[in-house]
Amino acid sequence: MSAGHTPVLAEEAVRWLRIDPEGTYVDATVGLGGHALEIARQLTTGRLIGIDRDARALEVARKRLEEYEKRVTLVQADFSSIDEVMNGLGAGPVHGVLADLGVSSLQLDTAERGFSFRLGGPLDMRMDSDSDEAITAADIVNQTAERELADLLYQYGEERDSRRIARTIVRARPIRSTTHLATVVAGAGTSRGRQKLHPATKTFLALRIAVNRELEALGQFLNRVPATLAPGGRWVVLSYHSLEDRLVKQKFQQLSREGVCAVLTRKVERPTDAEIAANPRARSGKMRVAEKLMPEEIPADWPRL
Ligand SMILES: C[S@@+](CC[C@H](N)C(=O)[O-])C[C@H]1O[C@@H](n2cnc3c(N)ncnc32)[C@H](O)[C@@H]1O
Repeated sequence: MSAGHTPVLAEEAVRWLRIDPEGTYVDATVGLGGHALEIARQLTTGRLIGIDRDARALEVARKRLEEYEKRVTLVQADFSSIDEVMNGLGAGPVHGVLADLGVSSLQLDTAERGFSFRLGGPLDMRMDSDSDEAITAADIVNQTAERELADLLYQYGEERDSRRIARTIVRARPIRSTTHLATVVAGAGTSRGRQKLHPATKTFLALRIAVNRELEALGQFLNRVPATLAPGGRWVVLSYHSLEDRLVKQKFQQLSREGVCAVLTRKVERPTDAEIAANPRARSGKMRVAEKLMPEEIPADWPRL
């Protein structure tokens, strides 16, 4: 069962994890279980903990990993609290952590989730759509002041026409649906130049990042993983957005300077042209890998975790 989502750099990511069949691994973004399946297949007495914010994704992952259910524990949680999840399960330091950031095909291709400007649906975009507290994209689009909205589009979507788009959105309020927003943004007359992107691509990306507080969650995750990893444990992060990749790169560099981790990917690893041709969603994928150092590799006078 492919579950409609092809895992990106799956073979390479799992190879970097260097699976010990008796080890404990965390897939912090288990999604539809694509990478998780590759990990679970290699375990004998080991354990895989799969985390995701999205209850629907976890349902799919559960079915897909059924054959390995004795080895797999799935938890609905935000990966920013990976340490609490591990404590709650009584799982000690782990041999590897994988994070495949962003959204899954299930989220993008389900109209009612509101992630896609191509599919008519409510302006929702919450990854955890069971949460009553979380704000939706409609809240942001219809209630944020024009200037703040422009800043959000610029900061998270790197949208150069943010001011013009924000002005057009504010004039067209209330905005009722994904397709309504896409039409309004397309009508803002942006200076898209030679780019092939739909004019609403960056607006939708920025809203998704804001709704799910993705950069805040990633920042907390990056701070908390080192204490979760056993010495020698591997940490693989796949990102699809330059802001995310920058956070990962900077954290890895900091941990390397502090002597906590060694960075194993001197240059970021990307999908091959053949993988991108087979799976266009791999296009912007970037993978970075670090390894927690053994205590004897850490100089005595360097900061400890
Ligand atoms: C690209 S998909 C992962 C796909 C998965 N590797 C597979 O092969 O099926 C990213 C997943 O991460 C989840 N996610 C994103 N941010 C999260 C967070 N802060 N905490 C937990 N899950 C998160 C999303 O709900 C989504 O299911």
